[in-house]
Amino acid sequence: MTDSKQYFSTIAPKWDELRAGYFTEAMRDDAIARAGLPPSAVVADVGTGTGFVLQGLLPHAGRLVGFDASAEMLAVARANLASHAHVELRQAEGEALPADTGAFDAVFANMYLHHAPDPARAIDEMVRILKPGGRLVITDLDAHDQEWMHSEMADHWLGFPREDVRHWFHAAGLQDVTVDDAAGACTSQSPTDETVALSVFLALGTKRT
Ligand SMILES: C[S@@+](CC[C@H](N)C(=O)[O-])C[C@H]1O[C@@H](n2cnc3c(N)ncnc32)[C@H](O)[C@@H]1O
Repeated sequence: MTDSKQYFSTIAPKWDELRAGYFTEAMRDDAIARAGLPPSAVVADVGTGTGFVLQGLLPHAGRLVGFDASAEMLAVARANLASHAHVELRQAEGEALPADTGAFDAVFANMYLHHAPDPARAIDEMVRILKPGGRLVITDLDAHDQEWMHSEMADHWLGFPREDVRHWFHAAGLQDVTVDDAAGACTSQSPTDETVALSVFLALGTKRT
């Protein structure tokens, strides 16, 4: 398996261009619309990368904080979001977020969970920083069999069975949990030059009050 930090430090300058081929703004914007954010929401994005989800959230949030382990990905995010004073970026491991308990109205994570060494712990940590009544919004890959993604894309997990995601959400203290189809697939080219389209889930849950 390729080391995730090494992979993203190298790919950071090219991520925005590559990402545009992998998944769409329509998928992101549908997840934001289905999250049901309150006006002027305080929102976190974990594994923010170059700030793709933060950019979609700009018109919907009063304050935004993006967390990512990669300094190189965050450097691109800083450039992308430089003109937006209500956005903050923090370098952090997803399983130990430098944020107060109960600080956020919503936490998003797009295509981060399959890089997390312990996904259940990563979800627990995202739920910790949610306010009671806050929303967790995760878009990620359904379970798949594309082994080459371990080495070529530094993916720790080959997606997830939706049942596992549902279980982790409930175990973390979320209610009104749904795990449905996201609006679109994740498309990439395999090393043998095949086009691979993987289905994506949108998981939503609300922290108990
Ligand atoms: C596939 S990219 C997705 C980036 C962004 N969410 C997007 O939609 O374009 C995964 C991101 O997760 C970050 N990441 C991987 N493992 C992490 C960890 N343990 N803690 C925090 N961030 C991590 C990587 O640095 C990378 O920026």
